Amino acid sequence: MSAASSHRRVAVIGYPVAHSRSPLIHNYWLKLYGIPGSYDRIEVAPAELAAFIGNFADQGLVGCNVTVPHKEQVARLVRIVDSETARLGSVNTLWMEQGELVATSTDGYGFLQNLRSAAPDFALERQTAMILGAGGAARPVIAALRSAGVEHIHLANRTAARATTLAAEFGEGIHPIGWDAIPALLETTGLLVNATSLGMEGGGPLFIDLSPLPSDAIVADVVYVPLETELLLQARARGLRCVDGLGMLLHQAVPGFERWFGRRPEVTPELRALLVRDLTR
Ligand code: ATR
Repeated sequence: MSAASSHRRVAVIGYPVAHSRSPLIHNYWLKLYGIPGSYDRIEVAPAELAAFIGNFADQGLVGCNVTVPHKEQVARLVRIVDSETARLGSVNTLWMEQGELVATSTDGYGFLQNLRSAAPDFALERQTAMILGAGGAARPVIAALRSAGVEHIHLANRTAARATTLAAEFGEGIHPIGWDAIPALLETTGLLVNATSLGMEGGGPLFIDLSPLPSDAIVADVVYVPLETELLLQARARGLRCVDGLGMLLHQAVPGFERWFGRRPEVTPELRALLVRDLTR
């Protein structure tokens, strides 16, 4: 039986999960391609997570996405299919494979694909990047940039010790820096990425003077609520190229949809417009 010939049920799990835009993306593709299936939100409290994963297939699910705060915990509960994700210790995409629930992370892929489609001529090899943040969102970004050949990554974090630990984990080419060292290093930064939670709706703003950045630098944000963060607004005002977090969300969804429903979906301007309408309602 082909993946697309019967109704297949998929969901995103998180706590809370009501904010997740993943159903909008996957249900759009299901309808567009005429595939019988559904994609829901399921709120799973941390105390219920192990039981949920243990009884996964009994709930009629063929796969799921995992969002905060469960990405690391689920990584400890299922088999991870690739070594890069195993090293990361964080997963966002699960599916059944010969009766076994397995997982990977598509976050790094989503980040990279988004960057490549937003700036196709930007050569990542030999670039110097700066990543702000050393939490869960920073890890897949570092791994992805490394795999794409970025030569040097400066890693700045409010809590310096966390940046030092993370940099040591990744090894050569990742340089932890103090928050106060950011201005002096911007001059040689080709790609600046915000992977902190700063700039998020309801959180504090991220204020960094971007004037030292080279005029051909790219500024990327993993935050997508709001779509235009303070950082991106400032970058745009300086005429720099901007890559927003919504694009990453759209692209990370592609490999999961293909696994569950048997068709590689496309990230189109129409889909993006649908999400933008929802985010700016
Ligand atoms: P996530 O999964 O979103 O990365 P996280 O692991 O809690 O969540 O990490 C949040 C990141 O945002 C961290 O890098 C955090 O810095 P600390 O390690 O110093 O906590 C950063 N962050 C959150 N609030 C911040 C603030 N007010 N100023 C600077 N950095 C902040």
